[in-house]
Amino acid sequence: MAFSPQACLFDLDGVIVDTAKYHFIGWQRLAEELGVPFTVEDNEQLKGVSRVGSLEYILSKGGLDLDNDTKVRLMDRKNAWYLDLVSAMGPDELFPGVVEFIDSLRASGIHVALGSSSRNAPLILNRCGIADRFETVIDGNSITFSKPDPEVFLKGAEAFGAEPGRCVVFEDAVSGVEAALNGGFRIIGVGDAEALAQAEFVIGGFEHFSLQDMVERLS
Ligand code: BG6
Ligand code: MG
Repeated sequence: MAFSPQACLFDLDGVIVDTAKYHFIGWQRLAEELGVPFTVEDNEQLKGVSRVGSLEYILSKGGLDLDNDTKVRLMDRKNAWYLDLVSAMGPDELFPGVVEFIDSLRASGIHVALGSSSRNAPLILNRCGIADRFETVIDGNSITFSKPDPEVFLKGAEAFGAEPGRCVVFEDAVSGVEAALNGGFRIIGVGDAEALAQAEFVIGGFEHFSLQDMVERLS
């Protein structure tokens, strides 16, 4: 029987917009200041991970033990750099085809939610002019547990009264793919097929991907 999706849940950073590169610049700059080496591979581990989880990763890599106030100050510093970088963003930084894909879902009666660990998600959606595309936005401000915990996606499905097994998650992060699997969701990776091998399949982007492709490949 053909798969019949009730909802699609989209990660933000690295799926809808290329903000992953700005997070990378911010964390690398902070790590450098702390004297901790920070590579592209480290960044891959941090995709989808909360702000505090990302800082803890860097501190533990450098064997650093800091008090809470210092940690808050460091996170604020990184976020200020990040906000500087994203303040110039506009709709031209949306990944090609993603808005058209979302519109085709809505036109077919499939619910659409955002499921992001970022507390800056509302700002980015507004800057890119796509806040109205999402019926529900679950972001870093509305969750207690970060990916790979499935909370962010479970809350999205719950908003529509949808079953996880009939919701499709789109994710570019290893932690996000794990979160989807942990919650019993269908999962499509976006980006690097090798890194996202746990996903059901991986697409390079939305430009040549349709609702029909999605249903066929998940049936
Ligand atoms: C995720 C990103 O979407 O949000 C992570 O993949 C980021 O890199 C996390 O750390 C938290 O983002 P923010 O914007 O709240 O610092
Ligand atoms: Mg992401």
